[in-house]
Amino acid sequence: MDIATVTDVFDETNNIKTIKFKWPRKAEPGQFVMVWMPGVDEVPMSLSHAGKEGGITVLGVGEATLAMHDLRPDDVIGIRGPYGRGFDLRGRKVLAIGGGSGAAALALAVEKAVAGKKQVTCALGARTAGELLFRARFAGLGAQVHVATDDGSEGHHGFVTELAAKLISRNEPDLIIACGPEPMLKAVADMSLKAGIRCQCSLERYMKCGIGLCGSCQCGKFTVCRDGPVFTGEELALMDDFGKRKRDPVGRNVGLGR
Ligand SMILES: Cc1cc2nc3c(=O)[nH]c(=O)nc-3n(C[C@H](O)[C@H](O)[C@H](O)COP(=O)(O)OP(=O)(O)OC[C@H]3O[C@@H](n4cnc5c(N)ncnc54)[C@H](O)[C@@H]3O)c2cc1C
Ligand code: FES
Repeated sequence: MDIATVTDVFDETNNIKTIKFKWPRKAEPGQFVMVWMPGVDEVPMSLSHAGKEGGITVLGVGEATLAMHDLRPDDVIGIRGPYGRGFDLRGRKVLAIGGGSGAAALALAVEKAVAGKKQVTCALGARTAGELLFRARFAGLGAQVHVATDDGSEGHHGFVTELAAKLISRNEPDLIIACGPEPMLKAVADMSLKAGIRCQCSLERYMKCGIGLCGSCQCGKFTVCRDGPVFTGEELALMDDFGKRKRDPVGRNVGLGR
């Protein structure tokens, strides 16, 4: 484990913050780290920044994530990783679909795809305009950004998947990447398979070890921490649990919840 010093903490939206820290390791887009909050917990987080500094972008939902929101420069945290399999960005026209804080897992992929001179379109969804994540960041990189909100406060009024369906027929992407709530990912995987477009989704499951040992993140025959968190549409089609249920901290099958 690396002990990393926090360098910056800033608001992205009214309920999401980015925490940057000294951590000069390389990572592939879509990989994650296990973040240890001393005295609280260790939880998985996608890397939203990598290079000279690392960064995570955190929705505050419970003890560990709210403790992350309280971090200040010079505080220290533990970082294990990077772990897992990220996005395979072959293709010329990429459609990146992010729901809520899920856009965090897409950030390094959008950066790499734009740097690789691909045509990148982003469809970002949130409950309301103030919760849209990385709209300015992705547009600033040169991606074409479209948004959807559940309450109609900005962009398409409705699900981001409805917006994505329009963008698929208009732009004809040859790669779709996505992260967000699992019902959204199921809809994305289904529409990609139907349209015959390569698709990769980043999944979330309860994680303890992060390295394929404990089995808590098992999904079908896959461990999400080691075989994923990014899976192809074909792999997702093999997972009975995908879009239906997950395991809780003690391994019981439960519904998807949020
Ligand atoms: C690969 C991966 C990448 C993730 N990337 C991000 C990210 O970039 N930004 C972000 O805001 N969130 C991300 N998450 C979700 C994040 O790990 C949980 O929100 C966090 O663990 C909640 O912890 P808590 O103590 O604040 O909340 P709690 O109250 O303990 O839990 C709230 C909910 O968070 C989930 N959760 C709790 N502990 C874990 C755990 N050890 N592993 C997985 N899920 C857990 C459960 O669904 C739980 O019901 C990611 C999860 C995974 C698996
Ligand atoms: S978290 Fe232990 S096997 Fe994946």
